[in-house]
Amino acid sequence: KPRVFSGIQPTADSFHLGNYLGALREWVTMQDTADAFYCVVDLHAITVAQDPDELRRRTRVSAAQLLALGIDPERSTLFVQSHVPEHAQLSWVLECLTGFGEAGRMTQFKDKSARQEAEHVGVGLFTYPILQAADILLYQTDAVPVGEDQRQHLELTRNLAQRFNSRFGPTFALPTAHIPKDTAKIQDLQDPTAKMSKSVPAGVVELMESPKRSAKKIRSAVTDLEKEIRYDVENKAGISNLLVIYSALTGRSIAELEAAYEGKGYGDLKKDLGEVVVDFVTPFQEQVQGYLDDVAELDKVLRKGAEHAREVGAATLRTVFDRIGFLAPT
Ligand code: TYM
Repeated sequence: KPRVFSGIQPTADSFHLGNYLGALREWVTMQDTADAFYCVVDLHAITVAQDPDELRRRTRVSAAQLLALGIDPERSTLFVQSHVPEHAQLSWVLECLTGFGEAGRMTQFKDKSARQEAEHVGVGLFTYPILQAADILLYQTDAVPVGEDQRQHLELTRNLAQRFNSRFGPTFALPTAHIPKDTAKIQDLQDPTAKMSKSVPAGVVELMESPKRSAKKIRSAVTDLEKEIRYDVENKAGISNLLVIYSALTGRSIAELEAAYEGKGYGDLKKDLGEVVVDFVTPFQEQVQGYLDDVAELDKVLRKGAEHAREVGAATLRTVFDRIGFLAPT
C-alpha cells in the first residue's frame, strides 16, 4: 500500500469549504487505498501567536472535525504533531540542508511576512516549510493530498529528500503532491480572484458556523453583471467558483449544472447551493459535537495515533541520525 501523509493547522474554530474540497475530501477517500497518516499540525500553528487555551480547544475541534468527515482511526493514523517529537528533530536536520535563499523564495512565507512588521515575523515562519518537509519525509510518504497553495512546499520537500539521499545514501521516499483537478483552489466568496482563507470571514464558508449563516454568505457571494450561469473563470470568477463548489458537493458535473440552470437567475443558483451546503454541514456538525462530548475518548484516539506514528517516525529518524554520523546513544 502506498503511504499517504497530510496535515492541517488547528488555527481556527472551524475548517472551511476550501480545506474540505481542496484536501480533506481526498484524505477520506485515500484511506481506502493507502496507509494514511493524518496530522493536526500544532507546531506549525505557533508560527503565529496562539492563545494557549484556544490552541488546546482548536486542536481537539480539528481532530473531531476530521473524525466527523470520515477519517477512520481504525484504518488511518490520526494524531497531533507535538505528540511526536521526531518531527522537530528531523526538521532541524533538514534546516541544516536548506539554503537561506531557497527558504526565502517560498511564496507563502513572503506573503505572510509581508503582512507584518519585520520585528514581528518569527523565524518559525521562515522555517515553516522545512518542518512541513520533515512531517512528510518522516513517514516515507509516497503521496500528499493538499490544495494548490501547497505545491511549492511539496517541491521543496522533494528537493530536500533528493539532496539528503544523494549526499548520505537513499533514505527518504520521494513524495508527490496529490492535488485535485477541479477543487484545488476554492475562491473567496467576496473576492473570487483570491483563494478562500481564514482571514476574510464574509467570504469564507466555515463548516462549523451556523448553517443559516453559510447559506447567507453564499446568497451574498460576489458575482458579475451578466445573467448567464456559465463556467468561465476569466470573466465570471464568482459564478465559476459557485459552480465548482456545487458540483463537488453534489457529484453533478458542471456541464449538467449549466444545463439545469439555463434560463434561471443567479439567485436560484445561490439559493439551491445554500441548501446543498446546509444539508452537508448540519449532520456534520452533529457528529463533531458527538466527538467533543467525549473528550476522554477523543484524546485516547489521538494517543493511539501518536504511538503508532512515533514507531514509524522513530525508525526513519534513527536511520537519518546514523547516516549523518551521529553517534548512536548507548
Ligand atoms: P492549511 O491548514 O492552511 O490547510 C489545510 C489544507 O487545505 C488546503 N486549502 C485549500 N484547498 C483549496 N482551496 C482553498 N481555498 C484552500 N485553502 C486551504 C491546503 O492546501 C491544505 O492542503 N502547510 C499546511 C499544513 C501542513 C501540511 C504538512 C500539509 C503542515 N505539514 C505536511 C501537508 C503535509 C497548511 O498550512 O495547510
